[in-house]
Amino acid sequence: MPFNTALTRQLGIKIPVVQGGMQWVGYAELASAVSNAGGLGILTALTQPTPEDLRKEIRKCRTMTKPPFAVNLTLLPALVPPDYHAYARVVIDEGIHIVETAGNSPGPVIKQLKAAKCTILHKCTTIRHAQSAINLGVDFLSIDGFECAGHVGESDITNFILLSRARQSLSVPFIASGGFADGQGLAAALSLGAEGINMGTRFMCTIEAPIHQKVKEAIIYAQETDTELVLRRWKNTSRLFANKVAKEAVKVERESTSGKFEDVAPYVSGKRGREVFINGDVDYGVWTAGQVIGLIHDIPSCKELVERIEMEAEETIKKAGSLIVGGGSSADPPPGEVGEK
Ligand SMILES: Cc1cc2nc3c(=O)[nH]c(=O)nc-3n(C[C@H](O)[C@H](O)[C@H](O)COP(=O)(O)O)c2cc1C
Repeated sequence: MPFNTALTRQLGIKIPVVQGGMQWVGYAELASAVSNAGGLGILTALTQPTPEDLRKEIRKCRTMTKPPFAVNLTLLPALVPPDYHAYARVVIDEGIHIVETAGNSPGPVIKQLKAAKCTILHKCTTIRHAQSAINLGVDFLSIDGFECAGHVGESDITNFILLSRARQSLSVPFIASGGFADGQGLAAALSLGAEGINMGTRFMCTIEAPIHQKVKEAIIYAQETDTELVLRRWKNTSRLFANKVAKEAVKVERESTSGKFEDVAPYVSGKRGREVFINGDVDYGVWTAGQVIGLIHDIPSCKELVERIEMEAEETIKKAGSLIVGGGSSADPPPGEVGEK
């Protein structure tokens, strides 16, 4: 049965499940499969080397799915930053109505996208950043708990606290991101006040994810303890799959006497990480994964996964409802207790 939340209503999707932007994973094959399954698929803009390549990828995705899909724009510190405005221009020109933004100083890009009436889901790891994004006019927050894959932020607040803080203090709707893999998780997120969930790692481990089978198998064999936090020393903490290179990077980071980023840079090379997804050698470079790897045990199609999540969430919500017994008001004391004559 389709869900009815602020997310499904505003985005025009059936199931409140979003596939978060993923560098070197978020291509048309995955985004279209998620959107065809009733969720929201997202293309990752910077996975395309130029804005014109992004245009081609958007057009390709359009031939693969009719329901809406979105584009992720991630703004990260770089010596030579990409031309974010040019990527955003392509998004607007190609008629994409939904954009996931993430990263630092997103103000100017959000302004550009809002002027074109795009719906913005902004991903952040703190309530403070969420408040700033609200001031920029975003439509949804994607609240990324410390469990998440990739940039976890520096405050280490897990979703049990973060989502309730969001419910208590944010004036725009939010979705829950980080640590979700199943319908029980979706039901929990809805209970905590979210309008849906965002998943990264779980979607890596689907048939349509365009990465090597060996990476998917490594996720299945891994446990929730098999991630490492790197680059904390430089306040750019990332959660990575705990392979040989990530462990070595952590060691170098801890032991470096110079404290220079250059010491650890060769270990965290994005180029080598990208190679892992192509050649399947899971120790070739660092790659991103969340603690949720401990909950992933198979490689379904996106359709199977999203349908399963929908069914599990429905069952979980019904089961939770059945825990409320009797028709009386909760103010009525149970028989045999104080108040009974
Ligand atoms: C391989 C991979 C690459 C990612 N790349 C990006 C990215 O480029 N931009 C971004 O905003 N988030 C990125 N993320 C984070 C996801 O969009 C999402 O927020 C996160 O995976 C949620 O945590 P989960 O993995 O526990 O579901 C990436 C995640 C993974 C697993």
